[in-house]
Amino acid sequence: MKIWAHRGCSQNYPENTLTSFEKAIQIKGLTGIELDIQLTKDGHMVVIHDEKVDRTTDGRGEVQNYTLSELKKLKINAGEGRFEQVPTIDEVFDLLEKSLKSGLKLNIELKNSIFSYAGMEKQIIDLVYKRGLQDSIVYSSFSALSIERIRQIDSSAETGILDSKVSDCLYKLKGGCGADALHPFWRGIDLPKEKLEGYTVRAWLTGHLYPEKPTGTVLDLKALENIGITDVFLNEPEAYLK
Ligand code: G3P
Ligand code: CA
Repeated sequence: MKIWAHRGCSQNYPENTLTSFEKAIQIKGLTGIELDIQLTKDGHMVVIHDEKVDRTTDGRGEVQNYTLSELKKLKINAGEGRFEQVPTIDEVFDLLEKSLKSGLKLNIELKNSIFSYAGMEKQIIDLVYKRGLQDSIVYSSFSALSIERIRQIDSSAETGILDSKVSDCLYKLKGGCGADALHPFWRGIDLPKEKLEGYTVRAWLTGHLYPEKPTGTVLDLKALENIGITDVFLNEPEAYLK
């Protein structure tokens, strides 16, 4: 089973922050890191999960209504009097560059199924090439149209199609978006293993994000492999790879 850090090490540190990624690159045996990107009002690519800043920062409202400099003033509470900022993807690349060029993968999820963020596909692909990171990236989205656009812009881009159920991922893939991998919710494996033969199936988990306390429950990854899952996005990868 291949293990990815979902939004960085998002159980023990605030999700999608430089600290959550810094902790992830220290984990031996980690396959990759997953993060989410959106666009600010003035067109900067920033790393944040929700369309609104409310849950993870001290601000209110939609990411798309903030300029980058306004967004940078918001605080992410990291505990013990420490605060972080919403990172730009450029800042994350600065931090991860060495690891990515040494074999670590980065799954960039384009968070564009509520707001489409026109042009974001080309913008991220251009930046990835400018930084020479094209062999280390997996792009994903819940939007089949967005995956199709990515593949049109860069036919060699590695992609994953997201949905809750693996059958819906497969439907979108066969329906034309042509992704390289299926990215379902881990409880959404609604097809027998034989139907998933030959596919990369990267399953994501929910729940237990910082500052919620870890439950101590560790999943049986072998059981997940047995139903056709090849990779998992975990909030606490450090509990599995010691
Ligand atoms: O990319 C896998 C997973 O992160 C998708 O769901 O809501 O955590 O972005 P979400
Ligand atoms: Ca995500």
